[in-house]
Amino acid sequence: MKDFTVDNLTEEVIKAYTARTASPRMKQIFSSLITHLHGFVKDVELSEPEWFAAIEFLTETGRKCDDKRQEFILLSDTLGVSMLVDAINHPKGGAGTESTVLGPFFVPGAPDMAYGADIRRRHLEAAVTALVTGRVTDEAGQPLVGATLEVWQTAANGFYDVQDASAPEWNLRGRFTTNDQGEYALVTEQPVSYPVPTDGPVGRMLDAAGRHAYRPAHLHFMVKATGFEPLITHVFVKGDQYLDSDAVFATKESLVGDFIQSHDDAEAQRFGIKAPYSKLVFDFGLMRT
Ligand code: BEZ
Ligand code: FE
Repeated sequence: MKDFTVDNLTEEVIKAYTARTASPRMKQIFSSLITHLHGFVKDVELSEPEWFAAIEFLTETGRKCDDKRQEFILLSDTLGVSMLVDAINHPKGGAGTESTVLGPFFVPGAPDMAYGADIRRRHLEAAVTALVTGRVTDEAGQPLVGATLEVWQTAANGFYDVQDASAPEWNLRGRFTTNDQGEYALVTEQPVSYPVPTDGPVGRMLDAAGRHAYRPAHLHFMVKATGFEPLITHVFVKGDQYLDSDAVFATKESLVGDFIQSHDDAEAQRFGIKAPYSKLVFDFGLMRT
């Protein structure tokens, strides 16, 4: 029998988790995870109260998860882990639109909406009417007919429908399909910057680091077409004050869109809105699988 010490324990634990592991990938993951986890504990010489505080923090993170709230995704996002996974799996370059984090507020099964439909299910006083339109193309810029775009965003009060008991179900969510020119169009309200939820352990972590909780205003998109890689991304609002300090590190220059005030009465009438309105034109490029 061996006595485990600070000097030999890491190696012994790695052996225990890799000796009978058939999968080379699992071996690599166990080995690296244990090396870094033990390395961290040794590096900071973790005290017993600190170790217990970490256990309580993770327990609370789990308790804060349900079908409407995902504190673990939020933890991953605010520590920059989600963006690291995104950057490794979707390297920059190529003709496709860049991706960014999914975030914790995607809800599958948003209702199908017709070209140009309005995703607002109630009208808040502060909301600015917006028309969002553009094309979905392949790498060569050829339009993709029948591509789907799921869109979701916060309301002018800074809340997603699932965070706000007074919001109608599916408010500011919908699934659109490109027309025979590869175009999509939707009416909505201009997104506003908003804080990520701070009433859980992640909020305390941000506080402890003196970080603000805000995300720059954005629309979320999930774009899909048969034979193409699904794209999960955002379009950020140019000029937003938080573009340089996103709480979840998810901004990319290429994803900033320009909402411009339009006075086009004829276009407003076509989409059942009143001029002036805010207009964003944004194209999405998908990559073949
Ligand atoms: C969001 O944009 O919905 C979001 C992303 C990451 C963390 C929290 C919210
Ligand atoms: Fe968001």
